[in-house]
Amino acid sequence: MHELIPLLKKDVIYMRVAEVARKISADYKDSELVLVGILKGAFVFMSDLMRCLTIPVEVDFIGTSSYGSDTNSSGKINLTKQLDINIKNKNVLIIEDIVDTGSTLVYLINYLKSFAPKSIKICALLDKHERRKADIKVDYSCYVIESGFLVGYGLDYAEKYRNLPEIYQLKL
Ligand code: IMP
Ligand code: MG
Repeated sequence: MHELIPLLKKDVIYMRVAEVARKISADYKDSELVLVGILKGAFVFMSDLMRCLTIPVEVDFIGTSSYGSDTNSSGKINLTKQLDINIKNKNVLIIEDIVDTGSTLVYLINYLKSFAPKSIKICALLDKHERRKADIKVDYSCYVIESGFLVGYGLDYAEKYRNLPEIYQLKL
């Protein structure tokens, strides 16, 4: 068992997610939007976010794994689930739990571009700056953090803690 330091409470997260959803609903009013969630970390965030949207959307998931059980990215990304929906000429919003080095997104953006979508933007629950390597712009983020390893609300450490309703910092 690790020591978990409480960081963001349930209600605080929900209010911020709803605020970001309002912005997305306004920006994509009158356009076809496909949400593409990155498994597994994004599914909790995505489920709250999409229910706060006031525009019609299609929903799909893509599966990646890179971390293994370490807190440092291996840098190598495996695709564990492909897209089901045809995104050609559609606006895609990638939903990610946390952007760290940015390597996962660089890989996924290239992959998604091969299906010729109209646009690709990024929405992340957390935008972590300290270890950023790739030149990635997060279009919608709920929180910007400098450093630390966070768990809960979908985020895991070695597949654990995803089910916690709040966000904690893991003390290693
Ligand atoms: P990147 O490719 O380095 O940007 O890593 C992104 C992925 O690493 C995310 O989708 C997460 O699954 C995982 N990750 C990065 N930082 C954290 C963290 O603080 N907690 C849990 N998972 C993290
Ligand atoms: Mg993960």
